[in-house]
Amino acid sequence: MAAIIGGVATTHVPAIGKAIAEKKYNDPYWKPFFKGFDYVDYWLAREKPDVAVIFYNDHGLNFFLDKLPTFAVGAAKEYRSEDEGWGIPVSRSVAGDVDLSWHLINTLVVDEFDVTMCQEMLIDHAVTIPMALMWPDQKWPVKIVPISINTVQHPLPSLARCFKLGRSIGRGIESYPQNLRVMVVGTGGLSHQLDGPRAGFINKAFDQLCLDKIVAEPQLLARYSIHDWVKESGAQGVEFLNWMAMRGALTGKVSELHRNYHIPISNTAAATVVYGNVKEVQRQAA
Ligand code: DHB
Ligand code: FE
Repeated sequence: MAAIIGGVATTHVPAIGKAIAEKKYNDPYWKPFFKGFDYVDYWLAREKPDVAVIFYNDHGLNFFLDKLPTFAVGAAKEYRSEDEGWGIPVSRSVAGDVDLSWHLINTLVVDEFDVTMCQEMLIDHAVTIPMALMWPDQKWPVKIVPISINTVQHPLPSLARCFKLGRSIGRGIESYPQNLRVMVVGTGGLSHQLDGPRAGFINKAFDQLCLDKIVAEPQLLARYSIHDWVKESGAQGVEFLNWMAMRGALTGKVSELHRNYHIPISNTAAATVVYGNVKEVQRQAA
């Protein structure tokens, strides 16, 4: 059976792609952020995942405001990216795990999540930047299942709903008959606002609360309304919905293995975390 080995969440600011292309790892502006990936590199080398299920939000490359599904699941053999206008190199394609995608789509629909199924799907910086950060040699050893959550066009799904979506995905992964090592990923956040009178807004105290509570008390965060979340975290801070889904998919005993928080990267409070996930029965046997 497939096993959920843990989760990674990270900011997906496009400027990171430019910094990677220009190899600015040791530049004083970038070093505190890139250093946060040393542990991620170590963890990935140790855990050797086969598949990454990635919760992210599309920013207008694949879906636009005219048609915007609340939840969309990729079921493609390959995911291409395109120039989004950020002035960063277009990423290479990423291989998809089609069979796992359909298994997870079936699980979600049985669990009453009526998702959009995408046999063709472009992936934007919210997938490609985290991939480039997690595997800096750009030889990506995993297949992916991308799951897009609407964080753009209101009304957005609630934090509680995204947590439940993650729970369903977690159960789906654990009922998949192939022996795969699956990691879950949440991208975006933490606090940021890109436009309007509060452009540049960052809330360090609230970010710390999120990082402190998401491991052991995610239900506390799930109680916030979207409007309160925007107040506390900024209009784009709602990308935390992707983190909530990632956390929901960790169905075992969850522990924080790594946390890096750095302000700012571009307009964003940048955070990178690694969470371990140990199945209850494995723990008892250990
Ligand atoms: C920035 C952050 C984002 O999450 C994004 O999607 C685009 C830009 C930024 O801080 O520049
Ligand atoms: Fe974003």
